[in-house]
Amino acid sequence: MTHHDTGVGNLQHIDELLLDDQAIAEQVLKVKRERNAVILVHNYQRPEVQDIADFTGDSLGLAREAARTEADVIVFCGVHFMAETAYILSPHKVVLLPEMRAGCPMADMADAPGVLQAKEEHPRAVVVSYVNTSAAVKAVSDYCCTSANAAQVVQAVEGDEILFLPDRNLAAFVAAQVDKKVIPWNGFCPTHEYITAEHVMRALEMHPEAEVIAHPECRQEVLAIAHHVRSTSGMLNAAVSSSAHEFIIATESGMLYPLGKAAPDKVFHTLPEEPLCPNMKLTTLSKVLWALQTLEPRVTVPEDIRVRALKSVERMLALG
Ligand code: 13P
Ligand code: SF4
Repeated sequence: MTHHDTGVGNLQHIDELLLDDQAIAEQVLKVKRERNAVILVHNYQRPEVQDIADFTGDSLGLAREAARTEADVIVFCGVHFMAETAYILSPHKVVLLPEMRAGCPMADMADAPGVLQAKEEHPRAVVVSYVNTSAAVKAVSDYCCTSANAAQVVQAVEGDEILFLPDRNLAAFVAAQVDKKVIPWNGFCPTHEYITAEHVMRALEMHPEAEVIAHPECRQEVLAIAHHVRSTSGMLNAAVSSSAHEFIIATESGMLYPLGKAAPDKVFHTLPEEPLCPNMKLTTLSKVLWALQTLEPRVTVPEDIRVRALKSVERMLALG
């Protein structure tokens, strides 16, 4: 057996990595202060990235923070549409996305020409776009919504016919809660679409006492057996307020980290086939440090698109 094969060697290696993370995190905090920056981090991000956050949250919470921050620089640790939304709300700030390749395949399933065509086919419909869309799609939409407020937005808008995009699963979840006609777009999140009821049932066999908390991007068959259906930050509240001790989490497995912090006395299980969003995992501490040092890569939106997209986002935020 070589030195590298021994448990001791591996432990030393892990120690070095941990020290590295700590050293990078200290640098990040130092440069962040010099830049007057704020670090906004989505709940699915790597634990070490969540640990340097000024604010961790779901899409709605992060958008609200981006709108109210007095920092000069926003470092967005999430995916591209989230950083775009921050820029739409705060165009005079520098908005950094440490990893430009961090996109959202579901957001890419709708484009502005396609939405304009659908509007022609449904001239009476009010267009409600999930925040998981490009700025160009938000610009041709009437309202924006997130997983935390989708049914509330659809219920509140004028009109009884809603073109809902791009997530067909969230559309079906909303349709079941409102007395309006909801026309779904045919998009989906690959990470959540992959989760089946059978995966959840197998997890329940292993943990029969557990309650299931699912994200509304999951298929209907999964939502039908969930005890709670919530946005990522809503999951934290559900876990804290439930009398259950054990939970199965039907969403991206990064969620287990903030859940463990919010309810340290409770137990959280991911599914047997661990759901992962590769895009959410692209952001690392080193990339955050590099972004703060260079003030690159920046996310911007052309002003004519931003102004129109802002209307749909502001209409959502005004609903409270
Ligand atoms: P939340 O707004 O619930 O955090 O969801 C964002 C997302 O991309 C889920 O896949
Ligand atoms: Fe997009 Fe799905 Fe990843 Fe969320 S989990 S960012 S919806 S691909």
